Order: sequence, then C-alpha cells, then structure tokens
Amino acid sequence: MVADYNPPQILISVNTKNDTYRNIIETKEFVVKILGTDLIRQTWITQKHFPYGTNELEEAKLTAFPAEKVKPPRIRECKASMECKVVWTKIIGTSCLALGNIEAISARKEIGKLEVKERAIALNRLIFFSYQKTDNTRNWMFAEIGKIHTLTEKDEETEIKNEAA
Ligand SMILES: Cc1cc2nc3c(=O)[nH]c(=O)nc-3n(C[C@H](O)[C@H](O)[C@H](O)COP(=O)(O)O)c2cc1C
Repeated sequence: MVADYNPPQILISVNTKNDTYRNIIETKEFVVKILGTDLIRQTWITQKHFPYGTNELEEAKLTAFPAEKVKPPRIRECKASMECKVVWTKIIGTSCLALGNIEAISARKEIGKLEVKERAIALNRLIFFSYQKTDNTRNWMFAEIGKIHTLTEKDEETEIKNEAA
C-alpha cells in the first residue's frame, strides 16, 4: 500500500518464513513489480517454497535485469517497478511490515507516456483478493480493472462518472 507521498513510500507485509523476508533484512532493499494477468502462472511458480538460493526467476522463466538504484533486480516481463530502500521493519505476529522509500520508478516505454486513466488501464494491475484451500484443491483469485469511476468536485457539487475500462 501507499504509505506516504513526499517522499514516496510504500508499505509491504512479508511472512517471516519467506526467503523474501530474509533478503529484505540482509540487503535492506527490495523491488516491487507491477504485473498483469499474463503472469498469473509465473507468479504462482515464484510463490512455491524452493530451497533458499534457488533462482526462482529461472524456475518461472522470467528475465531479471538490473535496477537503477538498488541491488535486487527488475523483471523484464513486468510492466513497472518500484525500487525501494528499507526505512524500517516491524514484526507483527507471523509477518513483517517493511516501509520502503521509493528511490526509482520505471515502467515500459508505452506506459510512461499515457494519461493517468489510460495508464491504469494499460498497467491492468493484477489484484490478488482471495486464497482458499479445501482437501485437495487450492484457489488463488485475482481481479483486473473492469471499470473506471471518476468523482469530480466543482463549486461544491460532485458528480460520479462510471465507464468501462
Ligand atoms: C498473488 C500472491 C500474493 C502474495 N502476497 C504475499 C504477501 O503480501 N506477503 C507474503 O508474505 N506472501 C505473499 N504471498 C506468498 C508469497 O509469495 C510466497 O509465500 C513467497 O513468495 C515464497 O517465496 P520466497 O520464500 O522466495 O519469498 C503471495 C502469493 C501470491 C500467489
């Protein structure tokens, strides 16, 4: 989630059992990627519990490339990246909150040029909203942008416009 704007900061929550947690504590840096529905299967592969040190990007056939300001890499197939340096971490139960200062943001060329609404549609950010497990089945559920809702305020009046994305 967005934590602040000036300087831009984001807050992430990572389970302390995850390699991601260990990497964040060791390097004090992380990169948050924005990806679309085209990478659902690859995302699922990287969430598997491989032994520490396994290159999960190779397992998922994703391509790492260097970040501008931090050591952890960006991923070629993702639409945008936020390169972060850790400000603080706080353990809450089984997870750790990490506040990151965004040192650099980059997006695919065609996305950077767009207006805010078109940019949101082009990013078509994968929204993870549910995980359910039954005896032998596990379901991860995702949503993507379907509608844009604009609230406009002018001279004390408000208007809400809804449109298909
Ligand atoms: C869509 C999706 C979202 C996830 N979000 C989180 C999260 O916010 N925090 C977290 O600790 N784990 C999350 N997980 C689980 C971790 O991705 C997974 O346990 C972790 O990547 C294991 O890999 P690692 O040990 O290399 O970190 C998520 C998994 C999926 C599939």
